[in-house]
Amino acid sequence: MHPGLCRPNAALLRSFCRCCLSRAQSLPGGSLSSLPRQMSRWNSLENNSPSPAQKPPRVLITGGLGQLGVGLAQILREQYGSENVILSDIKKPPPHVLSSGPFVYADVLDYKHLRELIINYRVTWLIHYSALLSAVGEANVALARKINITENCLRIFVPSTIGAFGPSSPRDPAPDLCVQRPRTIYGVSKVHGELMGEYLHHKYGLDFRCLRYPGVISVNTPPGGGTTDYAVQIFHDALSTGHYECYLRPDTRLPMMHISDCHRATIEFMQAPECQMSLRTYNIAAMSFTPEEVAEEIRKHLPHLKVTYNPDSVRQNIADSWPVRFDDTNARRDWGWAPAFQLEELVSDMLRSVRDKRTNEGLPVS
Ligand SMILES: NC(=O)c1ccc[n+]([C@@H]2O[C@H](COP(=O)([O-])OP(=O)(O)OC[C@H]3O[C@@H](n4cnc5c(N)ncnc54)[C@H](O)[C@@H]3O)[C@@H](O)[C@H]2O)c1
Repeated sequence: MHPGLCRPNAALLRSFCRCCLSRAQSLPGGSLSSLPRQMSRWNSLENNSPSPAQKPPRVLITGGLGQLGVGLAQILREQYGSENVILSDIKKPPPHVLSSGPFVYADVLDYKHLRELIINYRVTWLIHYSALLSAVGEANVALARKINITENCLRIFVPSTIGAFGPSSPRDPAPDLCVQRPRTIYGVSKVHGELMGEYLHHKYGLDFRCLRYPGVISVNTPPGGGTTDYAVQIFHDALSTGHYECYLRPDTRLPMMHISDCHRATIEFMQAPECQMSLRTYNIAAMSFTPEEVAEEIRKHLPHLKVTYNPDSVRQNIADSWPVRFDDTNARRDWGWAPAFQLEELVSDMLRSVRDKRTNEGLPVS
C-alpha cells in the first residue's frame, strides 16, 4: 500500500475501520494494491464472483436508464448476481431492461420512498446516476443521518464532471483540488454534490465517493445535446453520410473516456477499501483530444470523411471554460486507476460498434 494512505486519524478509524476492513476482506483477491496492473485486477474480478462466505453488495442505481446506468448494472450483475443490483428511474424501462434484472420506480425527489427502498432491499451501495444532482444532495443528507449511521453502512456514489470546473480553474491539467467556479447550472449542481457529500463524510461518517468523469463515449445512447456529444455523433455521420459538421472549433481539446473504462473505474473505486483513499472526490482521466485529432484518427479507417466546422457560441464558450486535461495522479496512486482505451483503441471500437448497430437496424453504412 502507498505509504501514508491509511490516515492515523482516531475519529476516522472509529467511524470506518470496521466497514473498511470487512469490505477489504470481502474483495475477491484481498488487497488491491498487491496486483501488478489494473487490468489484471479487473480481469481477476470479472472471473471471481464472491465465494458463498463473502457477502456481495446490494446495489441500487438511481437514474439508471440514461447513458451509463444499464451498462453498469450489467457488469455489476455479472460480478454480484442479478438479484443484488436494482436499477431504478422515473422513466418506463424498455422490455430488455425489465427482463435482465430487478427494476423499480424511484424518484430521487421522494426521499421517503428512497429510504424505504434502501431498507427493504438492504441496499449497501447507492449509485446516484439521476440527473437531478441538487436533489440527490438533499436526499443524501437525510440518508446519511437516518440510514448510514444508525442502520446501515451505506456507501454512496455520486458522479461529477469536467463541468464542475470553470474559467478560473487551472485547465492543463486540472488537479483534484483547486478553484471551482463553474458558470453552468449543471456544473454548480455538481460542485454542490461534491461538497455536500464531503461534508456528510466528515460530519456523519458517510462513505461518500465521487468521480469526476470526462466526456463519456458510447454507442448505445444517442447524443443528448451536451458539449462533448460531438465525439459520439462524428462516428455515426462518418459511417452514414461521410460528412460531419462540428459545433466546436477544430482545436478544442477536452478530456474523454470510453464507456467501458468509465464503468470499470466506477466499480473499482466502489470496491476500494476506505483506508486506501486520501480523497473523497477524484478526477479520472483516459485521453484528451480535439475534433481535428479524432477526425484524423477516423480517416485512418475512412479516408473519405469530411469535417466542417460551424462553432456554436454557447457550447464553444462552455468548452473553453473546461479543463483540457485532468490530472488523475491521486486516483492512480491511491486505488490503482489505469485506463485501457486511448484514442486509437477508442476509434477502432466505436467504428466497429456503430457499424454493427447500423447494420442491425437496417440503416445504410458507408
Ligand atoms: N455521460 C457522460 O458523459 C457523463 C459525464 C460526466 C458525468 N456524468 C454524470 O453521470 C450521471 C449519469 O450520466 P448519464 O449520461 O447516464 O445521465 P442521463 O442524463 O443519460 O440519465 C439520467 C437519468 O436520470 C433520470 N432522472 C431524472 N430525474 C430523475 C429523478 N427525479 N429521479 C430519478 N431519476 C431521474 C432520467 O430519467 C435519466 O434516465 C449523471 O449524473 C451525469 O451528470 C455523465
